Amino acid sequence: MSGLIPERVIAEVRERNDIVSVVSEYVELRRAGKNWKGLCPFHKEKTPSFNVNPEDQFYYCFGCGAGGNVINFVMAIENLSFREALERLAERVGIPVVSERASPQARQQQSERERLLELHKAAQEYFHQNLFGQAGGLARQYLAARGIQSETARQFGLGYAPAEWRGLLGYLERRGFSEAECLAAGLASEGRGSRCYDRFRSRLMFPVCDRRGEPIAFGGRVLDASQPKYLNSPETLIFAKGNNLYRLDLARRGFRDKGFAILVEGYMDVISLYQMGFDNAVAALGTAVTENQARILHRFTKEVVIAFDGDAAGEAAAWRGLEILRKQGLRVRVAELPRGEDPDTFVRTYGGQAFEELLNKAPGLTEFKLGTIIRRADLSTVEGKVAATGRIMEVLAGLDSPVEKNEYLRWSAARLKISEDVLAAELEAYEAKAGIESSSRHRISTKSNNRGDGKGRGGSRTAPEVQRQWSGAIQGLSDIESNLLRLLLHNRQLIHRVKGVLSPEDFRHPVAQRAMECLFTCYEAGHLENGAAIFDYVEDLSVQQFFASLLTSRSSLPPAKACMQYVRRLQIMHLKDDLKVLEDQIGRVEQRPLDARLVSQLSNLLIKYRQVREEISRGFQLQRG
Ligand code: CTP
Ligand code: MN
Repeated sequence: MSGLIPERVIAEVRERNDIVSVVSEYVELRRAGKNWKGLCPFHKEKTPSFNVNPEDQFYYCFGCGAGGNVINFVMAIENLSFREALERLAERVGIPVVSERASPQARQQQSERERLLELHKAAQEYFHQNLFGQAGGLARQYLAARGIQSETARQFGLGYAPAEWRGLLGYLERRGFSEAECLAAGLASEGRGSRCYDRFRSRLMFPVCDRRGEPIAFGGRVLDASQPKYLNSPETLIFAKGNNLYRLDLARRGFRDKGFAILVEGYMDVISLYQMGFDNAVAALGTAVTENQARILHRFTKEVVIAFDGDAAGEAAAWRGLEILRKQGLRVRVAELPRGEDPDTFVRTYGGQAFEELLNKAPGLTEFKLGTIIRRADLSTVEGKVAATGRIMEVLAGLDSPVEKNEYLRWSAARLKISEDVLAAELEAYEAKAGIESSSRHRISTKSNNRGDGKGRGGSRTAPEVQRQWSGAIQGLSDIESNLLRLLLHNRQLIHRVKGVLSPEDFRHPVAQRAMECLFTCYEAGHLENGAAIFDYVEDLSVQQFFASLLTSRSSLPPAKACMQYVRRLQIMHLKDDLKVLEDQIGRVEQRPLDARLVSQLSNLLIKYRQVREEISRGFQLQRG
């Protein structure tokens, strides 16, 4: 997960960033004994259950189970990748992290990127000064006419590009940037005789920011009815249109507080909504949502309400967007705006309360699709009804849940004014033709017993979905497993002793298996100290939370000498499981004595049974010796 960053650097970044001071930048912490306490930033709560342990440099929330070291914290709170979080923390304490093994080209690109970022920052300052300076009178009037307060304009870093050919160019040159750099940034254009001039003139400027809130591109709007209405930066080394969402940097916190994102079409929609208290809106920069934007959104939220313009184009865009967002696993709803309104005009005309209601009653994916089909259909003619029915079948057949299918079938039948039975028969015929398994047909379970397949423990098991919501404890994890892991976590020297007799596959629970793998890797890397180091070796959230909970557990730690007893009890537990499976299988073979597959499974189990028995007797010897 660390890519090209050397482990030494990771450890140094972690050690130099004290977790209490980093967390304090986001959470108000109070001392509570040895630890620090505060309101958890990862879930809503009224009494503090978020703990920071300065001694072992980790955090843990007793409410939601979030936990980890300082790098994990920055990843979670800023929604960054491991690398991004590490870079941020390195920057915080002045450690260079550009990988030592990075190619000269990569380093070159990195420094070009940094120059471009500086250039955009300078350009934004220039535009901003102009908006609030002498040249910006008209632009300020324009904003006022659209109901944008100057406080909001400042928050969004709005600016004005005056009607000059070399205004920005002159400013940037005085700040040490070359014409070539301005061209590469897309802020200047090249005319005849390779003379450069400002790309943006007489326009209201909207900075487009990256996730840290640094400007990486601009959109410029005319103040009158001339064309094009908007001019945008071209794609550059630091800006790719489809990878950005307008004001994601600001809206991220809003996503967390409100629990969903509002996706709109335009700059002005985001700004106007923000001013009305809807701080969870982002724009897709153009009309079509890209797969990449959907993926980014999914990292920050689970639900999106699309609020596109209330016209045919907006509806079509919403329809396309729905699918793209849904494919990334997002729950999607569509706020239906009256014709001719966009979110900006809507909130200004009808107010925030009305928009809130629109959001609340925004129909989900299926309802929106069906509603659109029916709205557009001509139900006065037979042809119209048939055409609409065909499209509805397509939507219904795509539903997984039989209950949903049935509900929407009834809903559609009522709207189409067709009897439910007829529509149901229609659906069955449609599904049969399309080869879709009807929901009423019995599905035969093909799940085989995962301990009886002879492939060895763990190997064939699929890990369950990473837990998203903390349920207090890891389901299905035995006390034996968690106590043993806790013992090893607190006494790293013991890892040496169990190495020969225990492997990660010996744990039944997938989280425990992965935890054991991490402990081994951490041990092999020579990190025997307690606390935060273990988190550098953790790759998934459930294991991270698990370690944090083990480190925080208040129940008494078993004595180190109990370690081998736990190993033995773990093996006995497996033995019992194996025997149970064996008995089951024997029971079944007795009923169908000629099943060759079962017989072979049975003999596999016997082999395994003997192996385990041997392992256990080895364990005994080890304990005595
Ligand atoms: N857009 C663009 N170029 C255009 C028109 C639109 O890049 N010529 C993008 C802009 O990001 C714009 C978004 O598409 O914000 C939505 O367009 P539109 O609804 O026309 O603009 P609004 O944001 O509603 O702008 P305004 O309210 O100022 O007319
Ligand atoms: Mn608009």
